[in-house]
Amino acid sequence: MRRNPDLDRQAREILVRNDRGGYTVPTHGLYPFQWNWDSAFVALGFATLDRERAWQEIETLVSAQWEDGMIPHIIFHQHDEGYFPGPEVWGTGRIPATSGITQPPVLATVVRQIWESEGADPACVRMQRLYRACLASHRWFHTYRDPLGNGLVMVTHNWETGRDNSSEWDDALGRVDTSEVVPYQRRDTGHVDAAMRPKQEEYDRYVAILQFGKASGWNHRTIADEGPFRMVDVGMSMELLRANRDLLVLAEALGDADAATELRGRIALSEEGIDWLWNEEAGAYCSRDATTHESSGLVTNASFLAFYAGVGNAHQRARLIEALQRLTGSARYLLPSLEAGSRAYDHRRYWRGPVWLVVSYMAAIGLAEQGYTEWANRIREDSARLIERSGFYESFSPETGEGSGGPAFSWTAAMWLAWCGQ
Ligand code: GLC
Repeated sequence: MRRNPDLDRQAREILVRNDRGGYTVPTHGLYPFQWNWDSAFVALGFATLDRERAWQEIETLVSAQWEDGMIPHIIFHQHDEGYFPGPEVWGTGRIPATSGITQPPVLATVVRQIWESEGADPACVRMQRLYRACLASHRWFHTYRDPLGNGLVMVTHNWETGRDNSSEWDDALGRVDTSEVVPYQRRDTGHVDAAMRPKQEEYDRYVAILQFGKASGWNHRTIADEGPFRMVDVGMSMELLRANRDLLVLAEALGDADAATELRGRIALSEEGIDWLWNEEAGAYCSRDATTHESSGLVTNASFLAFYAGVGNAHQRARLIEALQRLTGSARYLLPSLEAGSRAYDHRRYWRGPVWLVVSYMAAIGLAEQGYTEWANRIREDSARLIERSGFYESFSPETGEGSGGPAFSWTAAMWLAWCGQ
């Protein structure tokens, strides 16, 4: 039985309205281009109404892949004055114009999911092409983003994590020199209440890191070795581990034995390496600075992606469930992006408290797979209630359920159609 046909209709309308012909903008105004991991989740939404359109979303995304394998975080398909930093600020010289950084590697997982649900021939040209694109992107992470050689993911800009201004990055960002930042005009606060968006001094640091990349000619080796921001992200490390497992299934289906061996090796390396992020005091996996080796010590929604990645021994899992239990003390709606009471917690400000349904979705899938069905159901139910209460916002207050960020948001609509509304 359908939960709410009216919301189904609204969700479909949002996807159709945000469709710019082959790709979908996250929301009108605030984000007028194609974003990497948004498109992956949006494809799951489209797959419920138009499979061909779902594949097209993914194909448009990978068509902007760089020769070195990186799938960029933004593709600037068309001109729009309403966004900063636009293509001229990034200066990557790509056609179509793109940013010079990446975003969470969830694509292989999505490709596998849509492929399996439609029972497509793995050897068809489309699957071969998408498989090779994902493999190249995973190899890029291995080549450029694993300086410690432990199978985890280092990011060189906080925007790569998708959890843009999580307080996990505060200490590392605090060391970024902003004295050379060229004056600029922010656009985000023209679309959304400034109280929800990052603060000005934070934004200056984001721009300073961007300028370093640009000055290097977007040389990913230089950026990885010498960049001003180098964090091992718990979210992307978990997501890549999961995505490698999913890519392995595709490699086996396609009979690519060499890649399958390579992927098995990567998976084993990450399974062993992930403990480097475990923080016994916090009772969770936490992001950690690749330079100082300092752990953030913060429990965020990304910490719960451990279940999605299928890692953790009995003790670690028990501690994570304890943390989840603790969150219910202040959050009426799971899963907050930061634990209440942590420094910098703010139930309305980007990634410092609000609930993001795509992270909740991944955490819930993992919890269900690992046998924590009640927790998975609770997160799914809370997610549906948030949409029923407030509509398809970018994110939501875990305390009041009010929407924050942009309205009529594509990936929130997609999560309703593909997951919590069904
Ligand atoms: C914000 C989010 C990021 C997302 C983008 C577009 O920057 O932090 O995760 O990809 O918006 O929705």
